[in-house]
Amino acid sequence: MKVLNFGSLNLDYVYSVDHMVAPGETLASSGMNIFCGGKGLNQSIALAKAGVDVYHAGMIGEEGGILLKACKEGGVNADFIKSIPGKSGHTIIQVDKNGQNCILLYGGANRSITKEYVDEVLAHFEKGDILLLQNEINMLDYIIDCAYEKGMMIILNPSPYDDALEACDFGKISMFLLNEIEGGQVTGETQTDRILERLKEIYPEAKVVLTLGGEGSVYQYKEEQYRQGIYKVKAVDTTAAGDTFTGYFISSVIDKMPVQDGLALAAKASAIAVSRQGATASIPLRDEVLNVRL
Ligand code: RIB
Repeated sequence: MKVLNFGSLNLDYVYSVDHMVAPGETLASSGMNIFCGGKGLNQSIALAKAGVDVYHAGMIGEEGGILLKACKEGGVNADFIKSIPGKSGHTIIQVDKNGQNCILLYGGANRSITKEYVDEVLAHFEKGDILLLQNEINMLDYIIDCAYEKGMMIILNPSPYDDALEACDFGKISMFLLNEIEGGQVTGETQTDRILERLKEIYPEAKVVLTLGGEGSVYQYKEEQYRQGIYKVKAVDTTAAGDTFTGYFISSVIDKMPVQDGLALAAKASAIAVSRQGATASIPLRDEVLNVRL
């Protein structure tokens, strides 16, 4: 069984600010760093650091060498990553004094995925293999349809949520990992319990992991439900905390760990990520997650 993550790779331009800049305001930042990120790359690196053999597919632009390097150094198989002319995906991220962020995304090369490229990559995978997706690349609907045809198990993190997701057949998804806002966007509900109930009604065969920020997370599959709290740490930078959770939880599924243990492992890994700067740079290795006391 092989694991493929078809997703974004971004250069994150991260600015430290007192507060998020307001409309019409010019705000001086107190620091700036460039980190490797992108929900796709972050989740691939989280999977690899959790001990999973993972292939990443996606596109980078002319200045994307550093992203390729980070991918390889993070232990991810980068053979399918394609370099194309033009700019890589990038973000402008403000991180405030509480470690909270807001992110402006430029898709760049992430939005240049073609049907030919999808076909070329998926030709290397087969029935029973796992496909992980987020919503920072184009062609998501096509990728889902092709992977489903092949019998791959499709896991979707519908983030960031936008209209492109409306074109996707969510009935083909085996597992959703999403936060409460995304859960609300998928279901039209606002209360946690209603979001979970509605997801079960619309996608009865799908497993769901709903993250609830400071309230932790919930796993749901049919009548089964498990809840997990957070590990409290001083937040330095929340960027990639959700991606770390996603990668680690999926690793626990691959390792056939009990759900409650998988949720705890993912919560601990994401707490460590929150306590550090940057996206891929903040993702801990499995040994650290297992041994740290929080
Ligand atoms: O989830 C965090 C990621 O979202 C950042 O690394 C940034 O690139 C954006 O895609």
